[in-house]
Amino acid sequence: MKNDATQLLQKSQAYEHNARISVPGYDILFSMIQAYFRAQLGVHQASILIVGAGGGNELSAWGQFNPKWSFTGVDPSEEMLQIASYKATQCGLDSRVQLIQGTIDHLPATTRKFDAASCILVLHFIEQWQEKLALLQNIHEQLKPGKPFVLVSAYGQRDSEELQDRIKIWQSFFLDVGYPQAKVEDMGKVIMNISFISDQQIEQLLRESGFQHITRFFTSGLFAGWMCHA
Ligand SMILES: C[S@@+](CC[C@H](N)C(=O)[O-])C[C@H]1O[C@@H](n2cnc3c(N)ncnc32)[C@H](O)[C@@H]1O
Repeated sequence: MKNDATQLLQKSQAYEHNARISVPGYDILFSMIQAYFRAQLGVHQASILIVGAGGGNELSAWGQFNPKWSFTGVDPSEEMLQIASYKATQCGLDSRVQLIQGTIDHLPATTRKFDAASCILVLHFIEQWQEKLALLQNIHEQLKPGKPFVLVSAYGQRDSEELQDRIKIWQSFFLDVGYPQAKVEDMGKVIMNISFISDQQIEQLLRESGFQHITRFFTSGLFAGWMCHA
């Protein structure tokens, strides 16, 4: 379904608003990743793979102030990609952005290897261990040797009290900004549909996929972020 510019603006603002409640420090997270990529890539031309590019926040956060970076984004959601495309245009990035509806498996066979990659808030939507592993292996495959990768995901031992406590805190963020109690209770049930695995298991997946020098650099509520190298 095609959305007009007003609808896309509203959807983009709604997505950003929600992300900022759900992940306290969401904007700082993108600044930290930008700093990491800058430190690794220097001032050269660089191609960046964005897995889960829907919403376009990677594009608006990193595209505007890094004119030598170009971006290839994959995302299966047509609606989320429309928002990303809208944002790319608003930020004057169209000539440096390619968006592909699909997963990383839909990258053209001729795609050259990337200088950096990110996969932010995607892994927990992938159900099975083997599928998570395949995704990370595929990202590793798409990177030039030694190049940086950032993974951000929800984490937690399913059914542990520790995770339940963090979910209560996450719910309280939404209550604090005025979401109705009943809606927040439903959100607490819905969040359990995502595929939680522990932080140690996420690090194991990264190692099994071939990534090295794995450093956890971010923790916020339900989510954590790791930087590493192909
Ligand atoms: C919560 S959004 C995160 C978007 C963006 N990375 C951000 O941090 O704002 C999750 C996105 O992952 C996408 N997604 C789900 N499964 C995916 C997959 N296998 N490969 C790539 N993207 C996927 C969804 O369509 C959605 O747009």
